Amino acid sequence: MLQEKRHFDAPNDPRSGVTSDHVARSGPDLRRVDLNPDFWLPVAWSHQVRRGRPFAARYAGEPLVLIRPETGPLYALEDRCAHRQVPLSKGKIEGETIRCCYHGWAFDRKGSCVTVPYLNKPGNGRGVRAYPCRESGGLVFVFPGNPELAARTPVPQPCQVDNPEFKTRRFDPRVECHYSFMHENLMDMNHQFLHRRQMGQITARFMGQGRGEDFVEARYSFARKGGDQPLAERLLFGKHKDIDVSQQPVDEIVTVRTSYPYQTLQIHDKDGDLVMDLWVAYVPQGQDQLTTQTFGLLSVKRPKWKFLLDLAWPVLGIFTDRIFHEDKEVVEMEQQAWRELGGDHNVEVFPVVRNLRDLLIRSGAPTVRTAL
Ligand code: FES
Ligand SMILES: [Fe+2]
Repeated sequence: MLQEKRHFDAPNDPRSGVTSDHVARSGPDLRRVDLNPDFWLPVAWSHQVRRGRPFAARYAGEPLVLIRPETGPLYALEDRCAHRQVPLSKGKIEGETIRCCYHGWAFDRKGSCVTVPYLNKPGNGRGVRAYPCRESGGLVFVFPGNPELAARTPVPQPCQVDNPEFKTRRFDPRVECHYSFMHENLMDMNHQFLHRRQMGQITARFMGQGRGEDFVEARYSFARKGGDQPLAERLLFGKHKDIDVSQQPVDEIVTVRTSYPYQTLQIHDKDGDLVMDLWVAYVPQGQDQLTTQTFGLLSVKRPKWKFLLDLAWPVLGIFTDRIFHEDKEVVEMEQQAWRELGGDHNVEVFPVVRNLRDLLIRSGAPTVRTAL
């Protein structure tokens, strides 16, 4: 980890040397950087993939079929039959194989064609691509990149799903923007103004940052400048008192971290105990990677009176959905502006986000797309 830094350049500080030219044209356009496929990425929830029913999923323009056979673990294949490229997900699972809906060719978990029924013999080596596939935390992960790297790449263990001390909520909205906007949105807590209707007059205090080869993190505490604190926000972020922001004691620390390619937000209380844990992956859908399927898990520590959290759970769901909706709207507007301007014109002044942008560019797929 590099040395921590507790201060950052003021937005209008001429010493920062930040100009739109500097920011927009000093490197590759982040919105054209594809996600690095050499990671385990979620493509479905485990419960969506039922035994004996093929499930169609997608990664960056690649159609996938997820198969939970009658026996043996779940597997993933390219969702195009080797014969005439119709989706295998329209076919039928038989034993450990999937049989195409059209002429009935059957494929095994390695993607090899094991039957061409009307020739009464296997498919002579014709097959479809098989993707390494694992389940963890109620999610189905595939490894879309080089399969040789899969075994030595850890499968994420998201959040506190299996921890009875926590209650976990799943969410999976689709957002019409490049995945990088999502990372930037969560990392930059200076956008609480957007959520003023949900959160009231809350403000983030930047407490420092950390960065390393494959991560960037920022720490914040929240302070209330006035008004009443909404109940759901209090449950998530703890109680804030109406006193001068700079004087306000730090009750809890919010740590937002992009550990490429995943993102987390954790809240620790003043005793250092974890009270909220959010894990999110942003999975590109189309080949242009300008649509993102979010897979998120939000775990909240159960209070002493456990039923209180159960009672508040629906309110909490509505609150987090509304916040997310506001974020979705704003990042989609950013993406729209990028389309209209034909590139990234961001004037980024917050060092954490500049570090994050560097991380996303250097960790991304090596080929940068040059055309829309
Ligand atoms: S297209 Fe699949 S068997 Fe013919
Ligand atoms: Fe937000």
